[in-house]
Amino acid sequence: MDIAKIREEYPILQRKIYGHQLVYLDNTATSQTPDCVVDAVVRGYTTTKANVHRGVHTLSMEATELQEGTRRRVKEFINASSTDEVIFTRGTTEAINLVAASYGGAFFKEGDEVILSVMEHHSNIVPWQLLESRIGIKIRVIPINSVGELDLDVYRSLFSEKTRFVSVCHASNVLGTVNPVKEIVAEAHSHGVPVLIDGAQAAPHLKIDVTDFDADFYAFSAHKMYGPAGVGVLYGKRKWLEMMPPYQGGGEMIETVSFERTTFAALPYKFEAGTPDFVGIAALHKAIDYMENLGVENIAAHEHELLEYTTRRMMEEVPGMRIFGTAPGKCAIISFLVGNEHHYDMGMLLDKLGIAVRTGHHCAQPLMHALGVEGVVRASFAVYNTIDDCDRFMTALKRVAAMLG
Ligand code: ALA
Repeated sequence: MDIAKIREEYPILQRKIYGHQLVYLDNTATSQTPDCVVDAVVRGYTTTKANVHRGVHTLSMEATELQEGTRRRVKEFINASSTDEVIFTRGTTEAINLVAASYGGAFFKEGDEVILSVMEHHSNIVPWQLLESRIGIKIRVIPINSVGELDLDVYRSLFSEKTRFVSVCHASNVLGTVNPVKEIVAEAHSHGVPVLIDGAQAAPHLKIDVTDFDADFYAFSAHKMYGPAGVGVLYGKRKWLEMMPPYQGGGEMIETVSFERTTFAALPYKFEAGTPDFVGIAALHKAIDYMENLGVENIAAHEHELLEYTTRRMMEEVPGMRIFGTAPGKCAIISFLVGNEHHYDMGMLLDKLGIAVRTGHHCAQPLMHALGVEGVVRASFAVYNTIDDCDRFMTALKRVAAMLG
């Protein structure tokens, strides 16, 4: 891949921060957006803006076709068997809330158990805790080993006749660990239990094949995969989606409405109340084209090279370096601390040198607790990062570590 050429599509990467060339290493929080995707947003607002599924006029039909074209594209991208199984949401968080509220709200009863893992993002913990207080379900937690992999022996031992659901991430936003989702799903299915996979961190880096994983639900966000903010996808197997009640009520999710009796629209519209971000959804199509034109494997291989190079230099050149998450095959995410330095101080000082990293608990406080820390600094890579970025990061990191230390 010609990274210099790729970078031309990201004017934001030319920004100077405090007089320094920006080095953007907060890709796990959100990736930058290439011109081709931004152009799709601009085109959406300047040439085809009209509400979808609501008009017979040309603009509305064009906008509808753009949205439904994205649905077909997503179906192929994740290898779903039908577009009826592809639901547009505001993001991964809303997708998980949808499943917890609709599936859990309808089918769980007091004492039922849901298995999560200790490496989950708050968005895959709190929606289930809401059911804990509402219905009285119990949450069981898969721990991790010393390199940051799920302890699958414990996972297997957590199943009982009370287990109703498993919800785990495909890749950790802190550790980078890629979980063996096929194995996790197969184990749950051997107990007759459905599984939701939170793919927010996997979609930008890994091939997603919901049919191969046999996932019951799979959720991801566009903004982490070079797409627009405010758009996400929930994949769900038809058999579950048909059984599940609507999540929200409103326009577009109904068949007929009267004060006596309302009936609901067919899939996937039953779960898409209200006007969606149809412009963003159309731009997601471009983001998927962009990733697939580059090749998801090529993107991952490039990021992996940066990961290995930077990890080696960090361990060799920075005294007191501790990296959290060293599982083989992990995504290009490096969470770290240096000696006793506070993550926030490091992040602030790195920013003054033009380096954008995330600091804090990363919306994963239970994981921080398990790691015995309050927070970490996180550098994460995307296709447009270069070895030069890694070198600038290393120079700044060594300077900050020396200043603080
Ligand atoms: N989930 C995103 C992150 O890990 C926001 O930074």
